[in-house]
Amino acid sequence: MAETVLITGASGGLGLEFARIFASRGCDLILAARSLDKLQAIAAQLSAKYQARGRDGAAENRSIHVDVIQADLSLESGARQLYDAVKALGRPVDQFVNNAGAGKAATTVDIDPEELLGLIHLDVTSYAMLCRYIGADMVRQGHGKILNVSSTTAFFPDPYFNIYGPSKAFVMSLTEAMRGELRGTGVTVTALCPGPVRTGWAERAGKAYPAMAADPAKVAMTGYRAMQAGRLYVIPGLGTAVGTHLLSLLPRPLRVQIGAWWQRAMIRKGR
Ligand SMILES: NC(=O)c1ccc[n+]([C@@H]2O[C@H](COP(=O)([O-])OP(=O)(O)OC[C@H]3O[C@@H](n4cnc5c(N)ncnc54)[C@H](OP(=O)(O)O)[C@@H]3O)[C@@H](O)[C@H]2O)c1
Repeated sequence: MAETVLITGASGGLGLEFARIFASRGCDLILAARSLDKLQAIAAQLSAKYQARGRDGAAENRSIHVDVIQADLSLESGARQLYDAVKALGRPVDQFVNNAGAGKAATTVDIDPEELLGLIHLDVTSYAMLCRYIGADMVRQGHGKILNVSSTTAFFPDPYFNIYGPSKAFVMSLTEAMRGELRGTGVTVTALCPGPVRTGWAERAGKAYPAMAADPAKVAMTGYRAMQAGRLYVIPGLGTAVGTHLLSLLPRPLRVQIGAWWQRAMIRKGR
């Protein structure tokens, strides 16, 4: 029987690339985001193009099944509402890509408090609660794979983006905690930590991309492979991985200065 994969933030960017990768391998999909029209168009395209395949790779003589769920994960109740909608479909989730996220160029003391709270719900609360709900079902069924999309900002400070850097450090730390907790359950948890990826995320957040921003299809494939291999985390791109690990060896005060200088430059360039 084909595996079922839940992907949040599947209406564009990395989430859409993940949907394409899993669809091309014959998995059934549950796609979530706020933009229902985009999700429906993606579901129609993917189910028209790909045949379902069992875990052994054997064709199932049917198209992949793609369900879409409209969900706003910036609401405190967003994760619970999404989980209830997934349960109502009656399709156990075999793999989960915890991906929906956003940022906003604004300092922690300037950002609108309601907007900050929405970002905390989207980038922190929903990540944790979906790991809680979906992870518990996976443990009960005795197998499952979770990919939490973090960032290189998990390793390096991100001034001028308020909660965003701290949220990605949280997602990395949550992945490590779950990893230790779920040993021997058949459930693996992996963090994907990309540097800049050319998805439009940066423009929406209010900054420019550096020239070395990565291709989203390649980043998603690196995340997919790490997830299938059950790795703890992966930083796509050799240069980005080496650079991130070297920079994280610098003294913390110096890292803050470099992070602030870099983000000021990217915000100025994006104006
Ligand atoms: N692009 C980068 O440079 C980069 C680097 C490192 C990490 N990341 C992380 O990678 C993940 C994917 O980012 P991306 O680059 O693909 O960004 P993107 O192109 O802006 O896509 C974000 C996705 O999240 C969904 N989303 C946003 N707000 C939502 C909400 N309130 N409720 C539900 N869904 C919501 C969006 O769909 P709707 O608008 O339809 O809701 C969209 O499908 C994020 O967690 C991001 O932080 C990105």
